[in-house]
Amino acid sequence: MYWPAPSLFSSSALAVAAASLIAPAEAGYTLQTLYQGESFFEGWTFWGNRDNLTNGAVYYVGANEAARQTVAYTNPAGNVILKADNSSKLATGALRNSVRITTQAAYDIGSLFVMDAYHVPYGCAVWPAFWTHARSWPSGGEQDIFEGVNLASTNQAALHTVVGCTVAGTTTNVTQSGTLTFNDCDYSVAANHGCTYTDARNQSYGQPFGDAGGGIFVAETSSNAISMWFFPRANIPADLRTVNGTPDPSSWGLPWAYYPSSSCNINQYFAPQQITLNIALCGDWAGQPGVFSPSCGTGTCANYVVDPSNFDNAYFEIASVRVYGGGVNTRGSTSSAAGVIGGLGAK
Ligand SMILES: *[C@@H]1O[C@H](CO)[C@@H](O)[C@H](O)[C@H]1NC(C)=O
Ligand SMILES: *[C@@H]1O[C@H](CO)[C@@H](O)[C@H](O)[C@H]1NC(C)=O
Ligand SMILES: *[C@@H]1O[C@H](CO)[C@@H](O)[C@H](O)[C@H]1NC(C)=O
Ligand SMILES: *[C@@H]1O[C@H](CO)[C@@H](O)[C@H](O)[C@H]1NC(C)=O
Repeated sequence: MYWPAPSLFSSSALAVAAASLIAPAEAGYTLQTLYQGESFFEGWTFWGNRDNLTNGAVYYVGANEAARQTVAYTNPAGNVILKADNSSKLATGALRNSVRITTQAAYDIGSLFVMDAYHVPYGCAVWPAFWTHARSWPSGGEQDIFEGVNLASTNQAALHTVVGCTVAGTTTNVTQSGTLTFNDCDYSVAANHGCTYTDARNQSYGQPFGDAGGGIFVAETSSNAISMWFFPRANIPADLRTVNGTPDPSSWGLPWAYYPSSSCNINQYFAPQQITLNIALCGDWAGQPGVFSPSCGTGTCANYVVDPSNFDNAYFEIASVRVYGGGVNTRGSTSSAAGVIGGLGAK
């Protein structure tokens, strides 16, 4: 199946016509799709089921208006709130309402994915992510741009692919500022661990993120490399401060996570990507005793889920999600079998 330039069919998402009017001598990024404010949700599909992929103790609500008012809505400031329910006391083992939404559009190599947020979910049992994945998984790849669990102090990035995509370099601060923690992206290795980096900055996750006024997460998905940057609010480059700027990653300094095509052929391993935002509770990562206990101490993850007051910080406050197009894509249009999303979870 051929994917034409995505998002242009979305009535809600603002497709920016200006992008096609001028052909600059040197290709650069221009805004392709903006998800923001009151129309944010129109370009996304709500999961409408329990977490049947990563076994979280959540029910991901459907798109009905009542559910939206509870856990997914645009606040008076014009920012989008996605949250786990923090008002219902539950019986042990019951599922807490939460959100998992995915863009209807899929964006090919040559895209720059951006999330501008003021707050990210955190707390014991909480497992949020901002990530992308192909319609066919794992053959079309997955990139996790923002992900945290429990009281982890920093953000983690990951790629998940089929066999053959790795990260060759292990040297921090030469090609990236983050720390490489696992170098094999193959989903079938180490229980779908993925090739991971951790950011060195506490401001990349949890309370310190919000205390610093939030910030911007970026993934550049090009044929040459997948590169990720994080900018606390005070350090956001001018070309990202407004949504309709012309971002120039070459001016941003080292990415914190870097996956060069020399050890992972991006053209081969990455099909067009849909964007997903979700907040799981417990489940396959956050709920593992070996992951839960080190930051959250004694007690089980499941016991946390019953008490709503544990989830007052389990919310995203998002100023915008943006996709810029115009980056390097040497593969050209992609063809691939129409895929079903199955066995798919950020991790
Ligand atoms: C999981 O839930 C989604 C959304 O309802 C559904 O489309 C999919 O078939 C389910 N997958 C499995 C493995 O049950
Ligand atoms: C980052 O957070 C960890 C865990 O909370 C803490 O031990 C460390 O001191 C913090 N680092 C800085 C620079 O604040
Ligand atoms: C990178 O790290 C090494 C070892 O910690 C250090 O000697 C070097 O100065 C660092 N380089 C830069 C550019 O920060
Ligand atoms: C839920 O969390 C929000 C955000 O932290 C807070 O304003 C609100 O008071 C909480 N709700 C309840 C019922 O505690």
